[in-house]
Amino acid sequence: MTGEEIKVDRERESPQGQSGAGKYALYQDVCERLVALLGDETNFIANAANTAAFLFHSLEDVNWVGFYLVHGKELVLGPFQGQPACVRIPFGKGVCGAAAESGSTVAVPDVDQFPGHITCDPASRSEIVVPLMTWGKLIGVLDIDSPTVNRFDEEDRDGLESVVSVLLASQSSSDLPDLGDEAAEC
Ligand code: SME
Repeated sequence: MTGEEIKVDRERESPQGQSGAGKYALYQDVCERLVALLGDETNFIANAANTAAFLFHSLEDVNWVGFYLVHGKELVLGPFQGQPACVRIPFGKGVCGAAAESGSTVAVPDVDQFPGHITCDPASRSEIVVPLMTWGKLIGVLDIDSPTVNRFDEEDRDGLESVVSVLLASQSSSDLPDLGDEAAEC
């Protein structure tokens, strides 16, 4: 895969913009190109890093895209794009901890209205966090922030859950983070 082939092309990815019915087409295109980008690579950190970078440059109106990975009873910062972020988040704390604890996607229309929201980039106004589940265990979360209130809707939820499926499908079980007993049952 060359740099030219994986270059982000906003015209191609978003012919109908990133709202309404166009979002399904957008995420379908993002997923197809992510499959091509990840190719045969099975290293989880490498693929998570490229997924974060690809989403950061493919989605409009986002200021932070990245992963937190399960270590024991907390989440630890993984590959990301955006401003430097807090490193450790206990389960149940903040939006990431809430998604990790529930094992379900959490979309927050206004972070100021979410009790316990953890501020990393003060520009963030809304947020969505998608759990990474493999073989019934939580290995981490995908976290995306936007500087716009109410940026993420049901189509983003569906689309980003599909993106996470693509990332997880690219892994061989031996290349997933070696969490041992740390991976959380959900
Ligand atoms: N806002 C998140 C913390 C991580 S940053 O947004 C990168 C939270 O409340 O869990």
